[in-house]
Amino acid sequence: MGGAKNAALPILIATLLTAEECQLSNVPNLTDTSLVLHLLEQFGAEVHYDGNTVRAKTSALNATEASYSLVKALRASFWVLAPLLARGRAARVALPGGDLIGARPVDLHLDGLAKMGADITLKHGVVYATAPDGLKPAMIDLRFPSVGATHQLMMAASLTPGVTAIKGCAQEPEVIALANFLNGMGADIQGAGSSVIEIRGASELSGTTSNLIGDRIEAGTYLLAGAITNGDVTVQGVDPLFFGNFLDILTEMGLTVSSGDNWVRVKSVGELKPVHVKTGPFPGFATDLQAPLMAALTVAKGTSTIEETIYEGRFGHASELARLGAHITIADRIVTIDGVPELNGAPVDGLDIRAAASLALAALAAKGSSELHEVHHLRRGYEHFERKMSSLGARVWSRVSDPEDFIFAGC
Ligand code: UD1
Repeated sequence: MGGAKNAALPILIATLLTAEECQLSNVPNLTDTSLVLHLLEQFGAEVHYDGNTVRAKTSALNATEASYSLVKALRASFWVLAPLLARGRAARVALPGGDLIGARPVDLHLDGLAKMGADITLKHGVVYATAPDGLKPAMIDLRFPSVGATHQLMMAASLTPGVTAIKGCAQEPEVIALANFLNGMGADIQGAGSSVIEIRGASELSGTTSNLIGDRIEAGTYLLAGAITNGDVTVQGVDPLFFGNFLDILTEMGLTVSSGDNWVRVKSVGELKPVHVKTGPFPGFATDLQAPLMAALTVAKGTSTIEETIYEGRFGHASELARLGAHITIADRIVTIDGVPELNGAPVDGLDIRAAASLALAALAAKGSSELHEVHHLRRGYEHFERKMSSLGARVWSRVSDPEDFIFAGC
């Protein structure tokens, strides 16, 4: 597996906290990582990207503003607020707003930074934040374990002398990865991966090197590709513990799951069984695997349900799956999937990263060929998608007349 996109983004942003060079290896070559590298350059970083290794050095922060176009193109850009405030003491960052999958507020980020002494005002969709005398350590209680707020506050507290405690933190593996990186820079962070994190910040941070963890969402998508095609897939380069309860769900679906040091194998042994699951913060079932799981359940023998508890609008893929012959109904945040004996190829649109992955999986299982449009979404989260799919036996190609479309033939 490639390095985790959702660990690469906060770690690359964290390099803004120091004037020294940081080096990160196993960085996936994705639209989102390219966007964050451009973002760093905008703030004065010298960036070198060689293969999957990035070196970034921001000797001086030479801007304090992240525009709406930037934050709109890459939501995680909003996380520059913390390094800009902690190191530069001022920031102007556009509010990300909602998107196709939900409202996605950032109140926890702003409340936490305000607790650390930042003076924050919102005007015309822009967050104006200052901390002329520097941020102060604080006790922060998050009402929901937001991944982004946990990243943002860990970054701010790392460059704030004294001890900041955050309760109700996100426990995702990417939070641990960022904490390890910040510790490498000279912070002292304890408890990452649990619900309470204590950060002893420093007045200056130094450069460091790190190798990114494997991408559990990419890996989970390929495991589900094996499930939907009655196959046998092994993913390497990802710790089985990163999957939370996902591997238990696969077992419940009748798949044989085995794992070892940094690998997981999923083997089909007959028909897929229906399951009833709900998404939740780690170690619960990851919302980012909800759409790919839904694809697999469209061909399970019986009726499954998925409750989406993180994003109220994350069901855009359901109507596209229906174009391939899936039977899906939605009531509020619960989706009911009545398994069908077979799907049939059709043109479909993948309107966000995971929706596109979901439709790609369904297309693999469908009889005949399918066209997946809006493939640029897939490029945001899946490195070498065609190559990896082909290595699993899929027949996938991009159409020359429109390289943004994929054509799938069942495998
Ligand atoms: C990160 C991931 C994304 C994943 C999500 C949840 C990255 C780049 N993105 O997004 O792929 O789907 O975690 O696992 O790592 N919320 C608030 N107020 C806030 C912040 C969040 O109410 O200030 C709530 C919202 O309902 C939001 C939910 O928390 O929909 C989850 O958000 P959060 O965990 O912050 O997700 P992101 O960090 O944006």
